[in-house]
Amino acid sequence: MSIQSMALIGTGVMGMGIAQIAAQAGLEVRLFDAKAGAAEAGLNKLKSTLQKLQAKGKFSEEALNETLARFKVLDSIDQVAGVDMVIEAIIENLEIKQNLFKQLETIVSSDTILATNTSSLSVTAIASNLEHQDRMAGFHFFNPVPLMKIVEVIAGLATEETVVADLLELAQRMGHFGVRTKDTPGFIVNHAGRAYGTEALKALGEGVASISEIDRILREGAGFRMGPLELFDLTALDVSHPVMESIFNQFYQEDRYRPHALTRQMLAGKKVGRKVGEGFYKYQDGQKTNEEPIQTVPAITVFSPVWIKADCEQDAAILRDYLNENGFIIDAAEKPAVDSLIVLATYGEDTTTAALRFGVDATRAVSIDLLTDFTKHRTLMPSIVTQKSYVDQAHAIFAKNDHGVTVIAESIGFVSQRVLAMVVNLACDIAQQQIATASDIDKAVKLGLGYPHGPISWGDVLGAQRILLILERILANTGDQRYRPSPWLKRRAQLNISLLHTAAV
Ligand SMILES: NC(=O)c1ccc[n+]([C@@H]2O[C@H](COP(=O)([O-])OP(=O)(O)OC[C@H]3O[C@@H](n4cnc5c(N)ncnc54)[C@H](O)[C@@H]3O)[C@@H](O)[C@H]2O)c1
Repeated sequence: MSIQSMALIGTGVMGMGIAQIAAQAGLEVRLFDAKAGAAEAGLNKLKSTLQKLQAKGKFSEEALNETLARFKVLDSIDQVAGVDMVIEAIIENLEIKQNLFKQLETIVSSDTILATNTSSLSVTAIASNLEHQDRMAGFHFFNPVPLMKIVEVIAGLATEETVVADLLELAQRMGHFGVRTKDTPGFIVNHAGRAYGTEALKALGEGVASISEIDRILREGAGFRMGPLELFDLTALDVSHPVMESIFNQFYQEDRYRPHALTRQMLAGKKVGRKVGEGFYKYQDGQKTNEEPIQTVPAITVFSPVWIKADCEQDAAILRDYLNENGFIIDAAEKPAVDSLIVLATYGEDTTTAALRFGVDATRAVSIDLLTDFTKHRTLMPSIVTQKSYVDQAHAIFAKNDHGVTVIAESIGFVSQRVLAMVVNLACDIAQQQIATASDIDKAVKLGLGYPHGPISWGDVLGAQRILLILERILANTGDQRYRPSPWLKRRAQLNISLLHTAAV
């Protein structure tokens, strides 16, 4: 069936966003809201948005008039009768949604598709009291709907395959990427999104770096559009902390999703983010007022020779080339000379552990993170006994030509290594759980979270074997099951094939 008409129940932010793209795709759209006047108000607001877009030349006046003519505001819910599909975007409450769909079943025909825009409730549970559960599915959009070109099509336990196919086709007609997903907590995008924030909070909680430093490392070094802590401030902790707790609990306290006491405390203290003027940062007129500047580069003129040890030859070569190009002396002996600065390029461990493993003097050792692009922001990690003079030298060496450098405290795995390994591993585990295909997960998360790569192909870019090494070492060093590699990641890294590879049978 090709869906030609829809009714939207709940004409708030999401409902009107969905209504807009549906009408623009040529569907007849009926609007109903329980609050008197809300549907009319929603439509008036949308009209003025569309008029502004038309004035900017986004579409013709004729197209504007045709789109506006497709809307109809309903006075009573009974008037939804006759549409091909009803989408619900009302309050996020299981019982209220269940009652609404039960009521809708008494109004529409038995083959009318029923869809929910829920982000956190089970589609199967919402449909559980219906007579015809097979025509009910999740159709989960992201805010703002016209700009976030993705919609998750969620198959509940009873959802008929043709309903999923009809919704995927409709998504495409509305200009969105429809991604098929199983009915599991957080579906794809909100599930995959658990890694970024929780690991950053864990690093912050361990005192590895400051709020501004963690955000800067992940923005400028790893390439995320926003740092995780400034992102928490934007989404607000009264929204995101309960989501972290809910997904953790729905998966029966799975360590991979473990939230952090830091945000629970901030929520209790009402420091929920930008909208109240304070979260991780303080804000005035929506702008941060207390972001720390980048660390000052120590003024050093005399440098010790630099002795290098890396987990892989490629990293050692990057460091040697850099030192040669910038006129620093390399100590190429097998063992470091007594006064050499010791630079270690390692994965998934702290500098103390790395220095002991390589059998070198920890008081002169500084590690550097080479997981992400060396030409971007650089992160250095001294051990807890490294002498300040050596830390300062390493800082000045790698900050040459005003290059951005952050020196962090000891961490088992650098900030970027920990966060990226968790992002890749969690997405791989979503593939392992067969919640969606690997390529769909990759595309959905890139679109839904705005990451520079899909989280699975990002693993390929960074090197699946390096990601595996980071996870295995952090797991061995901490004993925290949160870091255990997904079998999906481990097998593909062992075979040295793409993380997107799917078995033929
Ligand atoms: N805001 C988001 O970023 C976002 C993203 C994806 C999904 N969602 C989900 O979409 C749904 C709607 O969210 P929103 O942000 O648009 O909310 P909203 O508060 O902006 O709008 C909800 C609308 O539903 C109406 N409503 C409430 N109960 C009703 C009922 N029983 N019958 C008819 N109308 C009723 C309200 O009057 C209101 O106009 C929720 O399930 C939410 O979880 C929200």
